[in-house]
Amino acid sequence: MKQFPTLTVTNHPLIQHKLRYIRDKATPKKVFKELVDEVGTLLAYELTKTLPLRAVEVDTPLARTTCQVVDCEKVVLVPLLRAGLGMVDGVLKLIPNCAICHIGLYRDHDTHEPVTYYFKPMSETEERLFIMVDPMLATGGSAIAAADMLKESGAKTIRFMCLVAAPEGVEALRQAHPDIEVFAAALDEGLNGDAYILPGLGDAGDRLFGTD
Ligand code: PRP
Ligand code: URA
Repeated sequence: MKQFPTLTVTNHPLIQHKLRYIRDKATPKKVFKELVDEVGTLLAYELTKTLPLRAVEVDTPLARTTCQVVDCEKVVLVPLLRAGLGMVDGVLKLIPNCAICHIGLYRDHDTHEPVTYYFKPMSETEERLFIMVDPMLATGGSAIAAADMLKESGAKTIRFMCLVAAPEGVEALRQAHPDIEVFAAALDEGLNGDAYILPGLGDAGDRLFGTD
């Protein structure tokens, strides 16, 4: 996208179809969770299209041949708690052997600034691809804070995956971390006065975990 050079919006019909039900406030919690997972899988397919491959020799029942593999253990999934947890199983369906590095943060209700409560850095960070997952990119504050922590711990390659992005968040993340590519199912109109995404899908964490 010219206006948002770090952003890829995946307009796959199945993603857009599922997003219609994810957005719908009438969708029950169980179905909401299943759909978030499924879109997580589809977005992960898009985000991993450019993963590097390594040649290995394999014996088929008939001959020796060269195959290509991904070093899955070099991929680290980084769910931003809580709502990012809702996309973990979906990504694990494609990359079951990846590591998972949780980052706990929440937005302060009044300031909308992120407050961090959990981060355990990984080792060998320089060689790994970190995939941050969170359904929502609103002001971008949470994604920026998480990327700051990952980079301080040595991470060099980071991508971000979300269901719904606001233009404000995409731009803020690009300003802070121009090297981080963003993969989203939708780019929405913008933020309301409470920094919620419009039209959005409401509070992703509350809808996933039945809280309010
Ligand atoms: C939500 C969402 C993101 C963040 C996005 O989390 O899951 O992490 O807000 O907003 P931002 O781009 O303006 O930072 P929330 O703070 O509601 O915490 P939760 O996941 O624990 O519900
Ligand atoms: N967090 C959410 O869960 N939803 C929004 O619209 C914005 C931030």
